[in-house]
Amino acid sequence: MEKQTFEPNETAVPEGTTYQLFPTPVKLFELEEAQMNAELAAFFNNHEHFSRSDQAQMSDVTTLMEHAPQVPALYRLEGLFLGGLKRYCREIGWQGEFDLAMQMFPNVAPQGHYVPSHNHVSHISAVYYVHTRPSDRPLLVSDESVQDYWRPDEGALILHDPRFNASLQGGWQYHAKVFPRPGLMLFFPSFLWHEVTPHGAPEPRLSVAANFSLAYRDIPAYERHKLFSC
Ligand SMILES: [Fe+2]
Repeated sequence: MEKQTFEPNETAVPEGTTYQLFPTPVKLFELEEAQMNAELAAFFNNHEHFSRSDQAQMSDVTTLMEHAPQVPALYRLEGLFLGGLKRYCREIGWQGEFDLAMQMFPNVAPQGHYVPSHNHVSHISAVYYVHTRPSDRPLLVSDESVQDYWRPDEGALILHDPRFNASLQGGWQYHAKVFPRPGLMLFFPSFLWHEVTPHGAPEPRLSVAANFSLAYRDIPAYERHKLFSC
């Protein structure tokens, strides 16, 4: 069938105004915490809990801070998470007094381990890397083509475009990859879908994830708060 072309003379339209609405703030901190990392690595590598076969499945139903009296580095890490959370909240415009629910859980990832695509049930999430295999890739890559998405990069944290079905629609296939190194602390909204590709290092990759749920304290008087059971 013969294709017809549109009229060559374009109809003039003004340039218009573009609003980059609904950005996804992802904040990275590069911390120098060699001593804390060494203490945490010794804990993860030597505590019997992390050599259990089901430790990966059970990692997010544990309370890492219960070990803090024996591993003071966990107090240090908790403080760093809270400091990062404060900076992140200020940037996204959350200001005031909150009730905060915070969970820290370990990710001890042996060789070949991967994490399927998921998001978190909280408001803000973070991860801190204690030990990773050295990488010559940039810390964060956000300008790759869709072909690069399918390249099996080692040990990459892939962040998916959170817009509904964005990755399935032509022209919207955006993603970013983080190639973590020890000392990296990363904050992102918990709704952001992400996954981790396998790594090939013989020793486990060590990181700690954190979830934060915040409830404003200065709730309006018309909002009735009650204990509800069902
Ligand atoms: Fe996650």
